[in-house]
Amino acid sequence: MTSAIVAGEPLSQEQTRAVLDRFYRDGFAVVPGVLTRQEIVSLCHRIDELFTDPTLAGTKYIQANFILRNTLELDQMFRDILVREPIINLAEAIVGANCQFCGQNVIRNLPGGTTISKWHVDDTVEFPLPDDVPRHDPHIRMPVNWFTVQMALSDIESVEHGPTQFVPGSHYSGRHPNDPDHPEFAGQGPVSAFCRAGDIYLQNNQCWHRGAPNLSDRTRYILQSQYAVRWAATRFGDYTRVPVPDEVLQHASERFLRVYGVRPAASRSY
Ligand SMILES: [Fe+2]
Repeated sequence: MTSAIVAGEPLSQEQTRAVLDRFYRDGFAVVPGVLTRQEIVSLCHRIDELFTDPTLAGTKYIQANFILRNTLELDQMFRDILVREPIINLAEAIVGANCQFCGQNVIRNLPGGTTISKWHVDDTVEFPLPDDVPRHDPHIRMPVNWFTVQMALSDIESVEHGPTQFVPGSHYSGRHPNDPDHPEFAGQGPVSAFCRAGDIYLQNNQCWHRGAPNLSDRTRYILQSQYAVRWAATRFGDYTRVPVPDEVLQHASERFLRVYGVRPAASRSY
């Protein structure tokens, strides 16, 4: 199948400002109607092909049967969508004009299948606070070192369809979610990011979030692209690509291998 990704147009300055205001305040922001019907059909078709490709089964590309990783390697349409407008313009507005790719995955939740339904922040709390400091000052605009653009490829219109849920403003908490089932920040509980196929939403990974279980008979498709500030991409990307000969690695200690990065971490955050 040939690439079906269109170039798109950036949002106006006014629209961009409105999206970013919501993103910085709430920790997420939905932007409706970005992808075309043809793009959605083509992407879902290709994603289904890849999930059932026998050459990918059991490889790094498919994790736990519902996450497709390293998609940039797999098809031109994934590479195209990384720089599709208005997505890339929003990414540049948030993490800088010289922002860099730091991840692209597909989450495909089959009816009744596995989801990332535990409340979490990604990786770690980047701006932690001590117990006696209740929150970050709301007048501060919290820094964003990397973030995720989630692209809905199916309609996710009710809780049964497994929307991403957020606790608005919780990126100001300086903490992990304060309850496994009913987290609440500043008097605000979880809300769902309902979408139609083709809508996107920007996600601050420090905002408490989860994927609600897919209790419907509809497969939930999310394509996600992640963008980082230039210094972080350099520090954690370019500088770590230092090849050590295989014969040296074969005799290296477990500790060296872990620090060098050839052993998977004990657990992986999403
Ligand atoms: Fe996450």
